[in-house]
Amino acid sequence: MNYHDYLQLDKVLNAQAPESEKKNLPAHDEMLFIVIHQAYELWFKQLHHEADSIAAIMNKPALNDNSPELQTVVHRLKRTITILQVLVHQIDIMETMTPMDFLDFRDMLRPASGFQSWQFKKLEAKLGLKFEHRHGQEYYTSQLREEHVSGIKQTEADKSLLQLVNAWLERMPLAPILSDDKNSFWQQYRAVYQSSLAEAEKDNLQPFDDLFMKETPSSDINQLSSTASRSALFIMLYRGYPLLQLPFQLLNCLLEIDEQLSSWRYRHMNMVHRMIGKRIGTGGSSGKDYLKAAADKHYIYKEIAQLNSFLIERRKLPELPTELEQRLGFVHQ
Ligand code: HEM
Repeated sequence: MNYHDYLQLDKVLNAQAPESEKKNLPAHDEMLFIVIHQAYELWFKQLHHEADSIAAIMNKPALNDNSPELQTVVHRLKRTITILQVLVHQIDIMETMTPMDFLDFRDMLRPASGFQSWQFKKLEAKLGLKFEHRHGQEYYTSQLREEHVSGIKQTEADKSLLQLVNAWLERMPLAPILSDDKNSFWQQYRAVYQSSLAEAEKDNLQPFDDLFMKETPSSDINQLSSTASRSALFIMLYRGYPLLQLPFQLLNCLLEIDEQLSSWRYRHMNMVHRMIGKRIGTGGSSGKDYLKAAADKHYIYKEIAQLNSFLIERRKLPELPTELEQRLGFVHQ
């Protein structure tokens, strides 16, 4: 096997065809513009590869928190985060192109735009962004080819990572114990939470009751059910116990993914503002204003982040029944 053949470099290195060259209107930076977008698309491909493998493991009904596979899920989520960090930094390279350099070839691209990156839209959907939560709903599909729209719609219809996490949280071995014990454990917790609220926060008790004390199933709008929310809050509170360490890391990775995606969106938006000011994008959107609205709306794991509003101080945590404490150790009795 030869390096060149193994990597199919014939295809990869011959896949850059600047429009400016074809039109004989040289624009030096168009090569950078093409290469950087291709690099992004390759990393998006890898992110799909990781997300698919994570979903396949999470979809197994037998996955429990003692299984080695949970370690694999967390490991691949961490890799996903590292790739996203690189994607944020790649904007530094894009920003070495000045607005005047971009103007040399910008009009030759219309109406192409990163907006038509179906891999990006599909990744958002795979991670858990539902159509209902998208900014400019129909607009985003109007810019895409038919086959790409149907691919994204199919992903939106499949179980997303967030839905799989919801199901995993619901079937956690802890969930039944904690629900049986609901009258004592969650009532006790509620009382401590209530006493921790400042005068101006007293209204927080209602969302606490709505989220944890009722039996609300998940839906397309609220993707975490009350059972899953209770499990997630419990994991965050008692994450020091060995059995809860990986589950905690898993939830924390999801919040990190949201943060990295958001950093990318803000850096991309600021770069766009610097590059084209208030002009519309090559894809025809309002440009910076569209990107700002999407950045504000497209947090995927906000329901998990919001659970942090319901934490209490560590020293006030209710003591766990001995039987439960033993279950959370490395050795089950
Ligand atoms: C000079 C550099 C760039 C400019 C001026 C720019 C501009 C824009 C604009 C204005 C939009 C909004 C849609 C439109 O009207 O076109 C957009 C969307 C987008 N761009 Fe860029 N972009 C640049 C570089 C990149 C790069 C390097 C990527 C990497 C893949 C990228 C990926 C995207 C994606 C994924 C969207 C859709 C975002 C969403 O819908 O939330 N862009 N871009």
